[in-house]
Amino acid sequence: MTDFRTDFLKLAEDIAREAGAMLLAERPAMSAVVETKSSPTDVVTALDKASEELIRARILAARPDDMILGEEGGATPGSSGVRWVVDPIDGTVNFLYGLADWAVSIAVEVDGEIVAGVVNVVPRGEVFTAALGEGAWLGGSRLACNRDVPLSRALVATGFGYSPERRAVQGEVLAAVLPRVRDIRRGGSCATDLCSVAAGRVDAYYERGVNYWDWAAAGLVAAESGARIGGLRGKAPNTELTLCAGPGLFEDLHGLLAPLDPERDA
Ligand code: IPD
Ligand code: CA
Ligand code: CA
Repeated sequence: MTDFRTDFLKLAEDIAREAGAMLLAERPAMSAVVETKSSPTDVVTALDKASEELIRARILAARPDDMILGEEGGATPGSSGVRWVVDPIDGTVNFLYGLADWAVSIAVEVDGEIVAGVVNVVPRGEVFTAALGEGAWLGGSRLACNRDVPLSRALVATGFGYSPERRAVQGEVLAAVLPRVRDIRRGGSCATDLCSVAAGRVDAYYERGVNYWDWAAAGLVAAESGARIGGLRGKAPNTELTLCAGPGLFEDLHGLLAPLDPERDA
């Protein structure tokens, strides 16, 4: 089906591929840390900024009236009702160390609803895509998340914030989760983790403190693969806690996490 969702997806995919190629080509020379943000471990390289600049330029060349929310450049207004949500490198620490889990993430919202999402996991040569109602795809393969996985056999991805106080609580929560599941993975890219749920490479994901640009695109990929994505107690996915898993496991993991009060920082 070709409609506005697939048109947006095509443009987002072209831009995410171009940014990914630029990052791969420039990484050896330009991956040094240029700035830190919320804490000394929250790093930005010149290429986080260069990637976002390229993505913004391409979006505005094609769609000058659209809004953009980008991790590095913040919010740019527009009048069309369309907003692009961009993480120019999700997994900057992996990028810095030469690990493979980092991605360019671009989502498109129309009137507040995410209709298209692309996650280009550049070092792996994998581009995950989803348009609302059209399924989740990795290249030519349609993705289906794992279903009805018992909690005790679940491989669960998670991540940690940048502040030491938050990490101390995240460690406490993890200590209670670890004995109850198959194992834990800390991949280092929220967007890649959610695509891994979609592809059945992990069974679930949860994290406190992720931002909208981390999960906007990959959350649609996960949802279109059949996974549930949300916050605690019926909330939409949000910065306090984002949780994603196939049906059945979502409820069980939620039941394990909620009493641990994972939304606190002390
Ligand atoms: C980070 C990654 C990481 C997650 C952090 C995010 P960044 O994004 O997604 O996996 O644990 O919460 O901030 O800083 O590399 O764009
Ligand atoms: Ca990110
Ligand atoms: Ca980022």
